[in-house]
Amino acid sequence: MTTTSNLSHIHRFVPGQDRQHPPLLLLHGTGGDENDLIGLGELVAPGRALISPRGKVLENGMPRFFRRLSEGVFDEEDLRRRASDLAGFIAEASEAYGLGAPVALGFSNGANIAAALLLLHPQALAGAVLLRPMTPLRSPPPAELGGKPVLMLSGAADPIVPAANAGALADVLRERGASVRHETLPAGHGLTQADVQQTKIWLAGL
Ligand code: MLT
Repeated sequence: MTTTSNLSHIHRFVPGQDRQHPPLLLLHGTGGDENDLIGLGELVAPGRALISPRGKVLENGMPRFFRRLSEGVFDEEDLRRRASDLAGFIAEASEAYGLGAPVALGFSNGANIAAALLLLHPQALAGAVLLRPMTPLRSPPPAELGGKPVLMLSGAADPIVPAANAGALADVLRERGASVRHETLPAGHGLTQADVQQTKIWLAGL
């Protein structure tokens, strides 16, 4: 299993042995890359196929999935373009590797692009685990999420994501028909054992 650049995003692909369940699309945080969440994916969904792209935007050398103007203030034109590119990559990877629509597992910036995918390209994902997400778009378009399962895990002491912002994202997704479970953990922006446990239990029930 190595990093490849044969598709539109540099990525890693782990074939897995479990073809009964949807693959996971791993989306790293700012400064991460395609290697970051492989271990987490193997821990929370043993045996599943894993697709892990690297974000194409560089912020002072740190990969991200879309540009931001400052912390928590997003370049929404770029976000829309990058979400469309990522939806294209998912379609390419599904074809190349013979997979169905993945469940996204995104952390921080990766959770935010996953939320944007749900709102802008809902057909690209079978569901999503959003770890420390925030609202990606000021005026989200109408979307039909048709009961798509979404787990959101926020941190009660997160210095980057205000509780009201995460709550607004849960509302927006529910209004569009997603089946959202939103938990706030005793944590900051970083991930904890509770994130791993809750994600594993939730994914097992899909
Ligand atoms: C973002 O830019 O997506 C959020 O501020 C989270 C982060 O990456 O720090």
